[in-house]
Amino acid sequence: MERSHVNPHVVLLPYPLQGHIKPMMSLAELLGSANFQVTFVNTDHNHDLLLRNTDITSFCNRFPNFQFRSIPSGLPANVIRSGLTAKDVFDAMKAVSKPAFRDLLISLREETEQRQSPTCVIADGILCFLTLDVSEELQIPLLALRTHNASYSWIYFLLPKLVEDGHIPFPDENMEKPVAGIPGFENFLRNRDLPGTCRVKTSDDDYLLQFFIGETFAMTRASALILNTFEIEAPVVSLLGSHFTKIYTIGPLHELRKSRMKDINSPSVSSSGILQTEDTSCMTWLNSQPPKSVLYVSFGSLVGLTREQMSELWHGLVNRGQRFLLVVRPDLILGEPGAAETPLAQNEGTEERNRFIVSWAPQEEVLAHPAVGGFLTHGGWNSTLEGIAAGVPMICWPQFSDQLVNSRCVSEVWKIGFDMKDTCDGSIIEKLVRDLMENKREEIMGSTDRVATMARDAVNEGGSSYRNLDGLIEDIRLMAR
Ligand code: UDX
Repeated sequence: MERSHVNPHVVLLPYPLQGHIKPMMSLAELLGSANFQVTFVNTDHNHDLLLRNTDITSFCNRFPNFQFRSIPSGLPANVIRSGLTAKDVFDAMKAVSKPAFRDLLISLREETEQRQSPTCVIADGILCFLTLDVSEELQIPLLALRTHNASYSWIYFLLPKLVEDGHIPFPDENMEKPVAGIPGFENFLRNRDLPGTCRVKTSDDDYLLQFFIGETFAMTRASALILNTFEIEAPVVSLLGSHFTKIYTIGPLHELRKSRMKDINSPSVSSSGILQTEDTSCMTWLNSQPPKSVLYVSFGSLVGLTREQMSELWHGLVNRGQRFLLVVRPDLILGEPGAAETPLAQNEGTEERNRFIVSWAPQEEVLAHPAVGGFLTHGGWNSTLEGIAAGVPMICWPQFSDQLVNSRCVSEVWKIGFDMKDTCDGSIIEKLVRDLMENKREEIMGSTDRVATMARDAVNEGGSSYRNLDGLIEDIRLMAR
């Protein structure tokens, strides 16, 4: 086979969590629709879940050059609630997944009867510890997809200086203290808005902080950085440019996927890369609700709430008499697996017709539904982007990691919602919901509509993300020559 006549073969490796797998899958499909050969690699557990929730026959009909492969993680299935420290987790992945990934790449190089030898690897930006050495050894170019936003990545580049200056760790009483020395964030970042890893209390917290700083700097050894973002982060992306030779901003990826694949035989907008079974009964309920009347409440795939937080949330919503659709995952309430069975979470409100509870919603479709007027979210980056693109204003109740940064950007930079960081009070929730749905709706909708238009413009033909994806596709084609 003459190399210049074959399509590139891209091997994609997401970090093994829902919030990382979904955007990586959108990118994989976009490359598949450009006729690339694609190998999508999950850990064994997630591979099984993904295949269980994917219509493989129709998927393979759409993307005949696509294959799913898996490697072991060396970890228990529910690693988040397993009690393992961060160090245990990354040590296990280094010991087990890293050699398995290397073996997989070598075997893919040998399977040239079926497909081209791997042209490049696209791996999650926080998996450099697993992918960099291997790709350098096997001389397969590595591109990093950082599924968090640009702001969060940029802040990480400045954290070593804050640690060196003694600013981190900071005591609880200094939460309100402004953070100096982060260009682009001079006027609004407080200690409480820094990435969750900066709240160092234990040696494991410190390990995690150092680990993510290390991974952020390691990404600069990749051939390029791919970011799921668009013009709202343009100033930060240009600051990040000092660390990378090439950056492709191609967000919001879930919208770019819809925009680019509308011509392919794809089943409407339904998302892929989902590990849970969606309960679509809420769509029927939404159909019977007045326009813009429902608050959609969801905390993503990972966040756990204490019983106290859950109860304040419930009272805030119910006291206000708010119509809401609430996602209660079976593991949402910390320390109470299966809490979805408890009275608090039962769908007892259905007959009252102003509330509905599911264990997992078709989130993109929910946010696009005309009955949904607001989003109470933990502020994970995918949820934030999905709210932005749907033009739904939000209240963020961030819990950890990038959520603490995202929620500050939502309220202070993009002005598309409110940040209730570090509070746990039903009356605050009630007030913010009233502000979002009524009192301050007009002012918040002005910026929400503006940002939603920017997102749509970015992914439509001629838009920045649309063009940048073309650039990425072309650059990978050149690697295959
Ligand atoms: C994790 C981190 O917690 C988050 O901070 C980081 O930005 C990404 O990785 P997660 O907490 O799951 O992700 O949040 P998020 O990024 O919002 O991703 C959740 C995804 O699950 C979204 O794409 C959302 O559409 C989907 N989802 C969530 C559903 O499809 N249905 C649901 O009921 C809940």
